[in-house]
Amino acid sequence: MTQTPATGRDPSRVLIFDTTLRDGEQSPGATMTHAEKLEIAELLDDMGVDIIEAGFPIASEGDFKAVSEIARLAKTATICGLARANFKDIDRCWEAVKHAKSPRIHTFIGTSPLHRAIPNLDKDQMAERIHDTVTHARNLCDNVQWSPMDATRTEHDYLCRVVEIAIKAGATTINIPDTVGYTAPQESADLIRMLLEKVPGADQIIFATHCHNDLGMATANSLAAVAGGARQIECTINGLGERAGNTALEEVVMALKVRHDILPWTTGVDTTKIMNISRRVATVSGFPVQFNKAIVGKNAFAHESGIHQDGMLKNRETFEVMRPTDIGLSETNLVMGKHSGRAALRSKLKDLGFELADNQLNDVFVRFKELADRKKEIYDDDLVALVRQNDTVEDHIKLKSLRVVCGTTGPQTADMTLDIDGTEHSVTATGDGPVDASFNAVKQLFSHKARLQLYQVNAVTEGTDAQATVSVRLEEDGRIATGQSADTDTVVASVKAYVNALNRLIVRRSKSAPGEDIKGVSYKDAG
Ligand code: KIV
Ligand code: ZN
Repeated sequence: MTQTPATGRDPSRVLIFDTTLRDGEQSPGATMTHAEKLEIAELLDDMGVDIIEAGFPIASEGDFKAVSEIARLAKTATICGLARANFKDIDRCWEAVKHAKSPRIHTFIGTSPLHRAIPNLDKDQMAERIHDTVTHARNLCDNVQWSPMDATRTEHDYLCRVVEIAIKAGATTINIPDTVGYTAPQESADLIRMLLEKVPGADQIIFATHCHNDLGMATANSLAAVAGGARQIECTINGLGERAGNTALEEVVMALKVRHDILPWTTGVDTTKIMNISRRVATVSGFPVQFNKAIVGKNAFAHESGIHQDGMLKNRETFEVMRPTDIGLSETNLVMGKHSGRAALRSKLKDLGFELADNQLNDVFVRFKELADRKKEIYDDDLVALVRQNDTVEDHIKLKSLRVVCGTTGPQTADMTLDIDGTEHSVTATGDGPVDASFNAVKQLFSHKARLQLYQVNAVTEGTDAQATVSVRLEEDGRIATGQSADTDTVVASVKAYVNALNRLIVRRSKSAPGEDIKGVSYKDAG
């Protein structure tokens, strides 16, 4: 095992750097509201993440505000903001993070041949830029992280040269990003080992690994980098992130915990908080977790085949390498029915990781009773879906009533009434099936040119009375908004999800000009 020496730290401790709110939020359609960002930051802080990358302050007023507020609120985590390699970005970043008890500036530039060509800098000019910007950042903040973007496709001699410059200019963490998810485990370990061996001063700083999952190797590559000497893993909840996503926090943290015998490193994360934050991130980002996702997927602890169930009853370890409770899942799933009271609901929700204010609990309780009238058994997942529906943005549009006619004969029609900014409007629309007819009705009542990018339905539990959760993603002039809803009636859930997405789009319209978004801030603009 290669040790990361010198920094005075416990060499077995790996820092967890969460970038759900920056790299995760950057993935198209995953945009979160201000309140949602604050909530996720608080959950990350509570679960013991070491560093939270809270956003990209120069990207928009919204990002700046979110990073500064998170910096003010954080109790223990270091709060980091991202900045390109120019003074303006770095100054803006510092303005946002400086309120934190422990602030960090993270500045980066693409160093591979392909990335060097973008700002049109030759190797020497880029080296000078790195020296100047890291020095500038270090004059503002004594905790500076520097990243050579696309490090895994950068020539080794040039990588060593620029890492040395960044260290001499004062960087305290050097992050080695596998920006396009290209590396493989052995190479990932060797690269960090090579840098530790060759770069003067490398033993005085912390190396970080930042992997993307394009080839499905992000977790393996991150753990291999730790074996090579990295002591910070950059990751996101549920692996949220552009394209195939980033390294999933829950995967690296649980791998280090469960296989401590061969991966002898520790983190400060309270793993029992994983499930709750995973659910919250899925909800607020609009990116549902795939059923068979490692650790947090709905099926990760489900045992359906007879052989498995038999084995599980005799000894859980037959088919389970960790306990559901390790990640905060309760052992019992079957829960409540129509006679359950408010106190029981509060306590069950607490077990599931939701501590609601009284008024929120009242809302959920009303919906719980409505659901219990329609559905005999209410499962944990039903309750989670009910709580998620509390996540309303300021609603301009509300569904008042819906009646659909569908089947094998006659036209499929939807009679709908929407409340739009306090006034009720009704229409009857037709379409190719009940969902199409209902969506046409919404469009006729609230005219818009948003394009439907995604329509996805999942059953929350088993049985024909199961609730359906629906996700709808809309795109309008480059702005993307995702809405979600759940109901035992799939068409009602679909319309509510559509209306939820429209409400979010209206919020986005008021925040940015067409096409102007965090995604509109170009990494090219390094200068
Ligand atoms: O993937 C990447 O290279 C990044 C950098 C900005 C660190 O996210
Ligand atoms: Zn990244």
